[in-house]
Amino acid sequence: MIRERIIVFDTTLRDGEQSPGCSMNLDEKVRMARELETLGVDVIEAGFPVASEGDFVAVKAVAAQCRVAKVAALCRTAEQDVARAAEALKAAAHPRIHTFVATSDIHLQHKLRKSRQEVLEMTRESVRLARDFAEDVEFSAEDATRSDVDYLCEVLSVAVDSGATVLNVPDTVGYTTPGEFSQLVQTVKQRVVGERQVTISVHCHNDLGLAVANTLAAIEAGARQVECTINGIGERAGNASLEEIVMALHVRSDQLPFETGVITRELYPASQLLCAIVGFEVQPNKAIVGRNAFAHEAGIHQHGVINNPLCYEIMTPESVGVAANQLVLGKHSGRHALSLRYAELGFQLNPTELDAAYNSFTALADRKKRIYDQDLISLLLPPVRSRSAKTVVDTGVSRIAATV
Ligand code: KIV
Ligand code: ZN
Repeated sequence: MIRERIIVFDTTLRDGEQSPGCSMNLDEKVRMARELETLGVDVIEAGFPVASEGDFVAVKAVAAQCRVAKVAALCRTAEQDVARAAEALKAAAHPRIHTFVATSDIHLQHKLRKSRQEVLEMTRESVRLARDFAEDVEFSAEDATRSDVDYLCEVLSVAVDSGATVLNVPDTVGYTTPGEFSQLVQTVKQRVVGERQVTISVHCHNDLGLAVANTLAAIEAGARQVECTINGIGERAGNASLEEIVMALHVRSDQLPFETGVITRELYPASQLLCAIVGFEVQPNKAIVGRNAFAHEAGIHQHGVINNPLCYEIMTPESVGVAANQLVLGKHSGRHALSLRYAELGFQLNPTELDAAYNSFTALADRKKRIYDQDLISLLLPPVRSRSAKTVVDTGVSRIAATV
């Protein structure tokens, strides 16, 4: 089957960094950019150079660092913004200028205080100017999903006529739904792009928890670039999560015949590096990279996974760079996982001993949130306990974690 290539545009260092508590210093941005290149993203949006001297310097450093991925710099549709972005990208091997202006009446009236005609002119001027500096120019119509569709198409057409190579349709406030967004992308494809060599991009925010679903719907409708972030960080509820989009395309390639250049086993290391840089973890149940994404506590599930992980896992932990799945021992666990953990600790229990240990274990798990290996050992009756010569060290790397 022929799989069409989806361009992965990572904006962790720009939109992601704009979220509360996620700011990064120069070294951290460069380290993260290196990781993103290793991960295999196609475009790294490094920052918004006119916003601050720090952002300018960071974009410059990332541009000098990355030789494979394209490096994008964001700018408004204003002359000094575009010039600053171009300046920051001077050392880039593959520079992209990304210029944007809002197209919804709400933004025009209450934020920009500009007429529709003025915004059309700003688009024309800024894309033309950007093309003087770079071959690769992306134009974004901010708040596209709350814009009048005819006007949106008019602005996007002006952007293409002025030289834009990528047209981005952002769902800036995370308002759209998959069916509606699919329609919008199809409209842009038919009415603006036609036969022209222009890539349609989407940029979805997660205010209704639909960012990834909207992105996938857009791909099916013709978008060939997706904008996303590691761990889904970004303004407010965040951006579409890169790891979720990539793995949805990977795991469900039967439904979604597309491919990316992302090396999936680098997803978890990239997620972990970002957590270390920003200083907080993702939620435990976060898809793909959360602590519980490959953890099983319920006895029925543990039994199934022990027999064959396929019972409850649709991808292997190794495929995303996680060392192994985990069977977590808690009040929902069964004898299979408990017996396996005792064996790992050096105790081979006969059925009667296992029954006794299991009864004590469930009683303890009802009272205690965290159960450690030492707890498990203390549950054993003295003759059984003294049978193992093994020294118990809770390394935390066991597949079976005696921790709820
Ligand atoms: O959310 C948004 O509209 C943006 C644009 C600048 C692309 O971040
Ligand atoms: Zn955004």
